[in-house]
Amino acid sequence: MEKRNSTSNDYIVIKAQEDGVNVIGLTRGSDTRFHHSEKLDQGEVMIAQFTEHTSAVKIRGNAKIFTSFGEVESEAKK
Ligand code: TRP
Repeated sequence: MEKRNSTSNDYIVIKAQEDGVNVIGLTRGSDTRFHHSEKLDQGEVMIAQFTEHTSAVKIRGNAKIFTSFGEVESEAKK
């Protein structure tokens, strides 16, 4: 079977519910830091995987997040 660089084949889907939602990728390994920030505007969708470089994703702003565990909504700070 083809060797892949991701730790799982699962994708997550993030759909922005407002302008300026930030999707922030955090590094895998002993050093946990931001390595990528993607800005989504209302209605934009990002489809992403966890990889050998990315162990966690932080989402700022109001967005719907769809994973194999179900759907969750992030909220903007009030
Ligand atoms: N170059 C990054 C990686 O392969 C791209 C990436 C994958 C990413 N998943 C992400 C960036 C989630 C932000 C959020 O790990």
